[in-house]
Amino acid sequence: MISAEIQTAAYLFASILFILSLSGLSNQESAKRGVVFGIIGMVVAVVATLLGNIHGYGYIIIAMLIASVIGILVARKVQMTAMPQLIAMLHSFVGLAAVLVGYGSYIDPKTLDLLGAERTIHYIEIYLGVFIGAITFTGSIIAWGKLTEKVTPKPIVYKGKDMINVLLLLVSIVLGVFFVLAPGIEGMPYLAIMTGIAAFFGIILVMAIGGADMPVVISMLNSLSGWAAAASGFTLGNDLLIVTGALVGSSGAILSIIMCKAMNRSFFAVISGGFGQEIKTGTKIEGKVTSITHEEAAEWLKEAQSIVIVPGYGMAVAKAQYPIHDLVEKLRKEGKTVKFGIHPVAGRLPGHMNVLLAEANVPYDIVLEMDEINPELPETDVVLVIGANDTVNPGAQEDPFSPIYGMPVIEVWKAKRVIVMKRSMAVGYAGVENPLFYKENAAMLYGDAKESVDKINSLL
Ligand code: TAP
Repeated sequence: MISAEIQTAAYLFASILFILSLSGLSNQESAKRGVVFGIIGMVVAVVATLLGNIHGYGYIIIAMLIASVIGILVARKVQMTAMPQLIAMLHSFVGLAAVLVGYGSYIDPKTLDLLGAERTIHYIEIYLGVFIGAITFTGSIIAWGKLTEKVTPKPIVYKGKDMINVLLLLVSIVLGVFFVLAPGIEGMPYLAIMTGIAAFFGIILVMAIGGADMPVVISMLNSLSGWAAAASGFTLGNDLLIVTGALVGSSGAILSIIMCKAMNRSFFAVISGGFGQEIKTGTKIEGKVTSITHEEAAEWLKEAQSIVIVPGYGMAVAKAQYPIHDLVEKLRKEGKTVKFGIHPVAGRLPGHMNVLLAEANVPYDIVLEMDEINPELPETDVVLVIGANDTVNPGAQEDPFSPIYGMPVIEVWKAKRVIVMKRSMAVGYAGVENPLFYKENAAMLYGDAKESVDKINSLL
């Protein structure tokens, strides 16, 4: 066993490593280093905790072994496309853990010895931890369902939703007062009722958010899971858990705000389950859709001098990043300018496209963000849209009735010609029709993105 001082020093060291890890993850080139810092920090944290004043090693070791085996199996098996749902599922575990820690601490005989202000503060910590934990738990399960499309990605709202939300919040606060005032463990019924309310809250908050706003919900749940862990840290008197929880909580909150800005959405409206938002369905589109063959697409590319590739979720599904890398090499060898335009919420997780392109060794310097590529599009000869849909939807600018109206998009239709590679006329994640497909300068190239790029490569 190590002394409390050494344990505190180890926790401080682990906290520094976690901060270095986060700063490393902010950039693709330093991301690997960031992950290594995170792993070392976590090992230090776990070892320092195990060597501290704890009992029941047998149970802990058995639980760790089982959890490690499950973790390794899941991590090896998961496809890149299924990563967001795995993350949502992991957030739900953090929420559940916070709920269990709260209940455990409440019935702990040591808690009963607390008196005065110390007791009040501890009970508030327990109550808040369970509240945040329960919302995170059920909210993350619904987010998992929406990402796997087991639950409809469309927003589910009903009349008086906002009123009910406010009412539930007020009832939870009143129950909290009763809970703190109740002697011994007599406040258990209040805690249990609030847990039920918070769990229901998590479900309706995430159910109300749909389609294109899901990225914000995921980063919000990420943030909530951090605050749930921090609340557990307070309950357990564990400084490292407080620091780590606060790091996850605040970085998740910053990411949510960045996502909201990128999508021109109000942070408050999204985190409050679409508070005060009306449901829009979009204007019916009329017009003619043109389709082209792989041979024609290859000709268009041969004739073009400047080409911009805009990838989306379909590139991830088709695993088209490798042939895309070869296509870029070929085109650049011909002296053409090739760039990528990446929307901040393309795919299903932040940085999804950047990770895939980096995996296929596409040079970072030709991968531009939406704001950088948009001004260049009117001068571009051909845009290749590969499995992107919502993120290139002109309805976001042209149709005030569109559910994604106001969301910034990559303005691909401003280029001279646009080739849209996808398998059908199906809608994207937000479930909105796309007027791009009907534009005169756009042509559909139907088929799986990887097969299409492979064919074009062989034709070039
Ligand atoms: P989406 O709008 O989801 O569209 C993807 C398109 O890819 C689909 O329309 C689909 O059309 C096509 N596709 C699927 N498999 C394909 C394949 N094998 N080959 C070729 N095409 C294929 O994609 P996006 O433009 O990247 O937009 C992302 C959406 O997800 C946004 O609404 C965003 O808000 C949401 N979202 C994002 C995140 C994050 S953090 N990035 C998280 C959750 C939700 P076909 O079926 O016709 O092929």
